[in-house]
Amino acid sequence: MQLFIDTANVQEIRTAAGWGILDGVTTNPTHIFKSGRPFEEVLQEIFSIVDGPISVETVSLEAAGIVNEGRAVARFHKNAVVKVPVMVEGLKAVKQLAAEGIRTNVTLCFNALQAYLAAKAGATYISPFIHRKEEAGQDGLEMIKEIRGIYDRYGYKTKILAASIRTTREVLECLNAGADVCTMPFNIMESLYHHSMTDAGLKMFLDDWKKVPPVKLFAAAPAGR
Ligand code: G3P
Repeated sequence: MQLFIDTANVQEIRTAAGWGILDGVTTNPTHIFKSGRPFEEVLQEIFSIVDGPISVETVSLEAAGIVNEGRAVARFHKNAVVKVPVMVEGLKAVKQLAAEGIRTNVTLCFNALQAYLAAKAGATYISPFIHRKEEAGQDGLEMIKEIRGIYDRYGYKTKILAASIRTTREVLECLNAGADVCTMPFNIMESLYHHSMTDAGLKMFLDDWKKVPPVKLFAAAPAGR
């Protein structure tokens, strides 16, 4: 499963990229607003940090407008993926963009039927929103399993990009449900590394290490080799 970060905060993206496990970025209009920076400027910086798929959302409500915005996004950078809301006009645009070889990420998906339609339209990615669905009292993870089943049964190549993740448990469940990609906020990605027993175990080892007689082996290793 690929790991994407869901933000337009370049400090967070830079830090996560430095960890060596980041495959891509997803943005949305709210992230761009929260960055407090001009759209093109923040995008340019994100593309310079991560060499992987970066989703940029369209805002038109008509297919023709979405297609124009999508072409502009695709021209902006070779790694751009055009993020399009799942709706009639959106999926008409996705079909056209796919015919032009432009990659798309169909977003705001809340059930498997929408995911099925996105796949039929030729979407590269589908973004089912897990946590927002859970907050509405519905089963977000079951949706991922259903989409996985439908795509596998009928051979759709659209990748499942699990989105709206707010807990590490949801990341694990996405892995178990067969998501192709999981996009998450910085704090959740950082939390994936941690376990209180790891911290306690490390402290114990390092405390005991202080009692070991001086070690020549590590001192002899030149820095950076
Ligand atoms: O990519 C989907 C994401 O941007 C929405 O997530 O956390 O706002 O529900 P969230």
